[in-house]
Order: sequence, then C-alpha cells, then structure tokens
Amino acid sequence: MAILVLLMPFTLMAQSDWTVSDAKQKDSNPIAYSDKSVKAGKVVYLGNCKSCHGDVGKDNGLPLMPKPTDFANQAFLDANTDGSIFHKITDGRATMPAYGAILSEQQRGDVTNYIRSFDPNYKPQASAQAAATPKSNDTEVGAPYFLDVKVDEANSEVTAILMGTFNGEKAPVVDAELFIGIKRYFNNLPIMEAGDVTNEEGVIKANYPADLPSGEEGKGELLVYVVDQEKFGELNQSAELKLQATHPSHFNETRALWADRGNFPIWLMVTYLSIVLIVWGVMAKVVMNLIKIKKIGN
Ligand code: HEC
Repeated sequence: MAILVLLMPFTLMAQSDWTVSDAKQKDSNPIAYSDKSVKAGKVVYLGNCKSCHGDVGKDNGLPLMPKPTDFANQAFLDANTDGSIFHKITDGRATMPAYGAILSEQQRGDVTNYIRSFDPNYKPQASAQAAATPKSNDTEVGAPYFLDVKVDEANSEVTAILMGTFNGEKAPVVDAELFIGIKRYFNNLPIMEAGDVTNEEGVIKANYPADLPSGEEGKGELLVYVVDQEKFGELNQSAELKLQATHPSHFNETRALWADRGNFPIWLMVTYLSIVLIVWGVMAKVVMNLIKIKKIGN
C-alpha cells in the first residue's frame, strides 16, 4: 500500500498534459501543407506510428500509460499548433520515441501534416521557410502559372522554370519552392537542394546522378512539381532522363530502385515456379498412393 501511495505521484506526472515551450508552440511546420506532403506523411505514419497510435479515428492504439493519442481527437488538434506537434514528434516523451534522430525533418513535417489533415478546422500556417523569405512580387505576378522543365543531358542538369502572369504577359515567379526529383517506387528521390526556391528568373537548377542504376533501358522519369499547391494549384511536369542501364543480373540494384513486376528477376521466377511444381508433384504422388492402398485394401 505504502508503495502504491509512493508511486502515485509518478503515474499522475506521466499522465499530465504534454505541453511544449512557447517558442516551440509558435514554430511552424518547416514543411508546407500540401496533398503531396499529407500523402507522404501517411506512409511515414503507417510505417512508424500506427503500431502504437493505431488507425487514426478508430481509437485503437496500444493500451499504454499514458495512452498514445488518437490524432482524430479534436481536443488534441485544438490544443496543439503545428509547431508543438512537430516538436513532440522530434523530442518524444517517456514511451513516445524521439524521432529527431530517426526521421528526417521532411518526414517529421510530412507526418505532422498528415495528422493535421484530420482537423476540419485547420487553416495551413505559412511554412517557416515561406515566412522567412520575403515575397517581393507576390501581389504582382498571378495566375495562370506555367511550369517548364529542360533537361541538359551533357551536363546532367535539369532546369525548372515557374512563370506567372503580370499585365497579361508571362513573368517569372520568385521565391517559390519546387520539388525536383526522380520517380521511385514509394518515395521519389529528391535532387534539388532542400528548401531551394526560384530565383529572379523563376528558375531552379538541379543536377541529377546520371550513373543511377535504373533497369535494362537506363531510363528514369524526372518529376517536377510546385510545392505550394494552395497558391499555384496542381502544377507538375515530367521528362525522361537517361540514366545508367543495369543488366538484370545485378538484380539487387535493379530491384532497390525500380521494384516493379517488370524487373522481377527471371531466375527467381523460374526457381519459384519449379518449387511450386515439385510440391504439387509430391502431393499428387501421395494422393495416387493413397488410392492404390485403398484398392489393395478392397
Ligand atoms: C512505442 C509506441 C509509440 C510509437 C511507435 C509512436 N508513439 Fe507517439 N506517443 C506514444 C505515447 C505513449 C504517447 C503519449 C506520451 C505522453 O503523453 O507522455 C505519444 C504521444 C505522441 C504525441 C503527442 C500527443 C499529445 O496528446 O500531446 C504525438 C504528436 C505523437 N505521439 C506522434 C507520433 C508519431 C508521428 C509517431 C510516428 C512517427 C509516433 N508518435 C510513434 C507512443 C508512441
């Protein structure tokens, strides 16, 4: 009994509301809110968080003390800013792991946006980065917007250009964040510098690793999109990239990047099919023998 009383304060402490410092609450999510980010965040959530927090909205998290929050809980969503969610994920507390060293800033920002997507009252805050960079000609250049992509194979360089409209003429959009990457199974491989924004000419340049192994044909798909979809709408472009052709026998590399059915190594398929055939053969033999035994018995 005495022990119980002694332990009480600890249990109470552990259950107390989790609040982060004012500064952290005021922080914004470094990753801007967008459908793409929410989708990426869902992948992070399913892989890292669902095991404890359960399916969002089903209140079926692990029965731990304190309980892993169900993120569809409106009281939680109302009480937490983007900054406090982001920092709680980064810092952890008790059973809740500190993800600062486990997940990249991008992944933590994405999963924060995924959690936010369950909040019907949520109005995206400007991302830290958008707030930090002054948008000089924001008011001038408007829709329609145009996204263009050029590939310079000789220098393995990609140029993405974002233009808007000013007085009926095309004009560059300055300080816009673009994603430039190579399509990959599950998550795309970014090749731009994280947080790069368009310059005075509306341009971001990025170099791609032309020696990236990518299947027998050595072809990859370049993917460029505007990150801030709220403002620019869904703008994206793709182009074919010449990459390193890989013989299928180097199937480890091939599968790492381009894991799809087309690249399923033939030798593996043959091995698999032979095993299936042998197993079926053995079973057929057993059945035939059983029938024989029955006949003999008669
Ligand atoms: C090992 C189990 C476990 C895993 C895995 C886990 N969490 Fe948690 N999480 C918890 C527990 C337990 C709490 C409550 C901690 C507390 O209040 O002290 C919590 C709390 C939180 C909170 C704060 C909730 C609140 O009410 O203030 C957030 C945000 C959060 N987790 C996000 C995540 C995200 C995102 C992931 C995946 C990247 C994740 N958690 C993975 C167990 C886990």
